[in-house]
Amino acid sequence: MMAKKMVFLAMVTLMSMMGKVVIADDVKLDYTEALTKSILFFEGQRSGKLPNNQRLTWRKDSGLRDGFDQGVDLVGGYYDAGDNIKFSFPMAFTTTVLAWSVIEFGNSMDSDLNHALEAIRWSTDYLIKCTNTPGVVYAQLEDMDTPRTAFAVSAQSPGSEVSAEIAAALSASSIVFRRSDRKYSDFLLRRAIQVFDFADKYQGSYNDSIGRWVCPHYCDFSGYQDELVWGAAWLHKATNKTSYWKYVMENIHKVESPQNEGSLYEFGWDTKNAGINVLVSKYILNNKQHSSPFLHWADKFACSLLPESLNPSVEFTPGGLMYKPGMVNSQRVTALSFLLVVYARYLKQSDRVIACDRFVATPYRLTYFARTQVDYILGKNPMNMSYMVGYGEKFPERIHHRASSLPSIDQEPHLGHGWDYFWSNNTNYNLLIGAIVGGPDINDQYNDTRHDAGHSEPATYVNAPLVGLLSYFKANYGS
Ligand SMILES: *[C@@H]1O[C@H](CO)[C@@H](O)[C@H](O)[C@H]1NC(C)=O
Ligand SMILES: *[C@@H]1O[C@H](CO)[C@@H](O)[C@H](O)[C@H]1NC(C)=O
Ligand SMILES: *[C@@H]1O[C@H](CO)[C@@H](O)[C@H](O)[C@H]1NC(C)=O
Ligand SMILES: *[C@@H]1O[C@H](CO)[C@@H](O)[C@H](O)[C@H]1NC(C)=O
Ligand SMILES: *[C@@H]1O[C@H](CO)[C@@H](O)[C@H](O)[C@H]1NC(C)=O
Repeated sequence: MMAKKMVFLAMVTLMSMMGKVVIADDVKLDYTEALTKSILFFEGQRSGKLPNNQRLTWRKDSGLRDGFDQGVDLVGGYYDAGDNIKFSFPMAFTTTVLAWSVIEFGNSMDSDLNHALEAIRWSTDYLIKCTNTPGVVYAQLEDMDTPRTAFAVSAQSPGSEVSAEIAAALSASSIVFRRSDRKYSDFLLRRAIQVFDFADKYQGSYNDSIGRWVCPHYCDFSGYQDELVWGAAWLHKATNKTSYWKYVMENIHKVESPQNEGSLYEFGWDTKNAGINVLVSKYILNNKQHSSPFLHWADKFACSLLPESLNPSVEFTPGGLMYKPGMVNSQRVTALSFLLVVYARYLKQSDRVIACDRFVATPYRLTYFARTQVDYILGKNPMNMSYMVGYGEKFPERIHHRASSLPSIDQEPHLGHGWDYFWSNNTNYNLLIGAIVGGPDINDQYNDTRHDAGHSEPATYVNAPLVGLLSYFKANYGS
């Protein structure tokens, strides 16, 4: 399990980008291939009964009786990262962002669009199962080594963060399926409304009800108010109902204020703030409003990521990768870069640039910077390696991932825990194609060892924003 502790940022000084790093400049990147692989990865994370068209065939059926002990069917969904636990909170966030990727950039996905829709549906089908009983939301399904116990939140022991994020995921996905499967889309939206009502009516953090099990993996560090506003913002986007817009306006002060400025630059499975501001900015700009706290904070967020900013919210490695100490770094790189590209798109549509502290940031500047981050991940970095498994000539081969490091069950049916494989220095048995690992340290170094989960473990919420980014770069910069 990777160290998921959220460390709120301190304002840090920008490291010199002019170091003595050498990066091969003739690296050829193929965004189309990377996009295909970034979506393929989700098949390697699948739990449940796998379909005949499963492309990563070393992954087999698993968790086929999940929930049955408790009289519910919780088969399906995704493992979050390298272990075999299903966590609804990060799974829902992954789904929201995958859906957002399709909403913005689905037109550029070509033959991968169908795979992206399958990746979303694999999750929404599961999230529907988690919310089939009104007033109950299943939040976690335990590891393989234990009886696979399911943990739920309810009116008596609430969990507004997990419930409201599921509402966001189902709303966003309802927009995605509106054209191709109207019936499914309507169903998702009805369920989203129901789950949001539950999240709002019985407010509380799942820390306090099932914290013993969800912490330390996905403890809710930043509170649940951000998920409630985020859920309402997605419901507004999906329904156009003014009641949801009112909810956003009336509750945003509980989430955002200059006193907690740091969190306004965050976006990830725990903190939604920067995502709220960017998402909502589209509606504000469409209504020709040019000043609003949402725009103000979205602007400041975008400025703060650029290396030329006087008030940066991230550090940079000498090779130019954005870096925040204390956590799995690649999740920030992909999530924040995704927001920049989406925001740039909204700004461009309304012909707007940002006045940063001492410079003007054009939409092009934001996407250019985001592209440097994606290019670093794909191979333009001092290690001359790709951080995506199965992409490029050199990539991580000892990722922290149980199913990838063990032989497939049809080759070795009786593995036990497989610790021998964990401790061996051999490369992994199965290629989890498309997986993005945590990435290098602050000095651009990567050791490729499965013992160091913080750097070598992949996670679904790292890939989800990358799917959108790669679709955009594929369409705008060719292969
Ligand atoms: C990366 O490639 C550059 C240019 O080819 C080379 O100078 C540098 O030594 C390489 N770095 C590593 C770690 O292989
Ligand atoms: C959840 O628990 C963590 C760890 O104990 C704590 O830091 C955090 O503030 C708690 N969050 C809420 C919303 O209670
Ligand atoms: C909401 O309004 C937008 C803009 O007017 C429109 O494009 C969209 O189809 C509407 N959505 C719904 C669910 O009515
Ligand atoms: C793996 O490599 C390390 C460092 O080279 C070494 O200390 C260790 O004994 C090796 N482990 C095995 C199981 O070979
Ligand atoms: C790689 O190993 C070196 C030496 O043990 C250590 O200083 C460095 O922090 C490690 N980096 C990563 C990314 O694990």
